[in-house]
Amino acid sequence: MPRNRFSRRKFLGISAGVTGAALAAKTILLDPGPAFALPTPVSASDRVRFGIIGIGMQGSSLLENAIQLPGIECVAACDLYDGRHTLAKEIVNPDLPTTRRYQDLLNNKDIQCLIAAVPDHWHKQIVVDAVNAGKDIYCEKPMSHTPADGVEMVAAAQKTGRIVQIGSQRVSSAICAKAKELVAQGVLGDVMLVEGSLGRNDPTGAWEYPPPPDLSPQTLDWETWQGTVPKRAFDPYTFARWRCWKEYGTGVAGDLLVHLVSGMQYILGINEAPKQVMSMGGILRWKDGRNMPDVHATLFEYGQVPVYMRLNLGTETPEIYRFMGSKGILEVTEKTLTFTPQRGVDDSPSYYANSFPRAMYREYAQKWHMEHDPVPGQEPTPKGITYVGISWDDVKPHLWNFFQAVRTRKPVVEDAVFGHHAALACHLANESYFRKSAVYWDEGTKTIKS
Ligand SMILES: NC(=O)c1ccc[n+]([C@@H]2O[C@H](COP(=O)([O-])OP(=O)(O)OC[C@H]3O[C@@H](n4cnc5c(N)ncnc54)[C@H](O)[C@@H]3O)[C@@H](O)[C@H]2O)c1
Repeated sequence: MPRNRFSRRKFLGISAGVTGAALAAKTILLDPGPAFALPTPVSASDRVRFGIIGIGMQGSSLLENAIQLPGIECVAACDLYDGRHTLAKEIVNPDLPTTRRYQDLLNNKDIQCLIAAVPDHWHKQIVVDAVNAGKDIYCEKPMSHTPADGVEMVAAAQKTGRIVQIGSQRVSSAICAKAKELVAQGVLGDVMLVEGSLGRNDPTGAWEYPPPPDLSPQTLDWETWQGTVPKRAFDPYTFARWRCWKEYGTGVAGDLLVHLVSGMQYILGINEAPKQVMSMGGILRWKDGRNMPDVHATLFEYGQVPVYMRLNLGTETPEIYRFMGSKGILEVTEKTLTFTPQRGVDDSPSYYANSFPRAMYREYAQKWHMEHDPVPGQEPTPKGITYVGISWDDVKPHLWNFFQAVRTRKPVVEDAVFGHHAALACHLANESYFRKSAVYWDEGTKTIKS
């Protein structure tokens, strides 16, 4: 069982038992969010039937989680590697129809919507083809492989009116929703600075994945897998470790930074590209032939606020945001949210006055205390507060929001425009790294400029 999976009932059981004590300690357990409360069994007309394209590391997890939701049914699966047909049948049922051609899913009238968890260089074509075929689609992050891909995807989503949801699942988490609520209430005062960081220190964390042992041009359609990228001889390492190369992936920016940016956009209510971006980094640890940096630090400008985000595949550090404001700090991690208030005033005479001659200092300090000291017993006691929730990496709430949108036609939060803006921030970070200069998005020409 994944470390973050526990049932809603178990969660609420814990919550009810400790609420009183938790409040006293200023720690509150968050309700895990969507109740997945459709009556079971769901009538045939209310069932949502989906097909999945890409049943690799992420697709297999999405598939496993999606079919546990009430009223959700997988009717077909597509992958270019046959081993993943076997896996899809193991997850759903041995009779699940499987194919190497995603066009078969687009032509299947039983399929209302799709999940796509393919490498980044395939996102655009699959999303554009899906919406043009009348299918709603949940596509993994980062939405696009290039800015031009993103522009085309937004246009296709808007032209067809299909639901497109991008897969930074924390946007549907209870942790980020609570952070958004607190920021909207003004707990931070004026936002001054935002920082986000994440570090890993192991080969798997740095994408050195083991290729499936039976992978060959017979078990994989290698030609199609490469898409429009200049063709290379069959290479199992490229198949498994595509994130390392810009031809297929988008580096730590598109793999990890995009989650930090998407969560930040959601929490602060931002839905635009940053005004300016400056990145530095390098291939400092994993000199395995990759062409994307393994250390990547970026400074973004959103509105007037600097946002500093750091990704490091050479040192393990927790994933954390710090939203800093004139009234305190909001720290957000995978399962916790802590607000520490600050009064923003002096709580003692200014230490600058230590440079006054003694008599002058005594007079200043006496006056200061008379004007500022609280009435005894009424000293201000600003209290911090911590919320604890289930992991923001749990994909079920995000899948549920997508399937509900398919049912109700209500728009999703992380739609194509939101996904495009988050991906643009990552493309700008990569472009700044390669150009070694500050860059910005020019909306007029829809290109990145220095
Ligand atoms: N949201 C998250 O937390 C999260 C986590 C991991 C990965 N991802 C994203 O999910 C996507 C997939 O990543 P992954 O690690 O699962 O990759 P993966 O390489 O493990 O799996 C991708 C699968 O897609 C198949 N595929 C590629 N092109 C195809 C095509 N044209 N038609 C059909 N199948 C095709 C491949 O054969 C492969 O089995 C990426 O965009 C990645 O960024 C998101």
